[in-house]
Amino acid sequence: MTIRLAPSILSADFAALGRDLEAVTRGGADQVHVDVMDGHFVPNLTIGVPVVKSLRKATKLPLDVHLMITDPDRFIEPFIDAGANMISVHVEVLPHLHRTIGQIKKLGAKAGVVLNPSTPVSAIEEVAADVDFVLVMSVNPGFGGQVFIPRSLAKIRAVRALLDRAGNSAAPIEVDGGVDMTTVASVVEAGAEWLVAGHAIFGSGDAETSARALKEAAEHAARGGRR
Ligand code: DX5
Ligand code: ZN
Repeated sequence: MTIRLAPSILSADFAALGRDLEAVTRGGADQVHVDVMDGHFVPNLTIGVPVVKSLRKATKLPLDVHLMITDPDRFIEPFIDAGANMISVHVEVLPHLHRTIGQIKKLGAKAGVVLNPSTPVSAIEEVAADVDFVLVMSVNPGFGGQVFIPRSLAKIRAVRALLDRAGNSAAPIEVDGGVDMTTVASVVEAGAEWLVAGHAIFGSGDAETSARALKEAAEHAARGGRR
């Protein structure tokens, strides 16, 4: 398994995003997680296309854009044009999920589908062979700094089994919400490879050191606890 650390800029200092990006890059970040919220699908408003455009100029890291919005189809193209490399969409709002995944791929980005904590794994059964990755929400989306929901571990295992059964063993699982030094080993052991972390990195006062420590702990767990 290949661990990738995806710091979520939701907990960064929005007036100093460039500085914060440089800190997590030095700390070993592999991609930048960008949480887009519309105040409808989730009870919070965050950032949009112009910010992604600016981030694109500020970093070489892939931009991993998580769309927590009611109508993602309308915004896929603008976000990819702005520089998004991965786009993840919530299955809860998409009646034509298969078409949406095809559209993301056609426009040249990696396509991910996201499951809320209350959404069953069976919701992605029919697209399991088509996705580039699956994002398992381990908190209810909307805010950073929430507590990890323990049942998410069983869900990560079930998604891994589904992807493998569908012949899509190459597709990684991303986990988002409450990932920190106390939960990171268990999510990796359950099968997650892309790790989103906001508060655990930017809330510490030293984003570089926290990113490095979290990635080392994840890689240690991925080696089965061996040095
Ligand atoms: C939650 C967002 C997350 C959030 C994670 O709605 O999707 O990406 O930033 O934050 P932490 O790591 O603080 O739980
Ligand atoms: Zn997210």
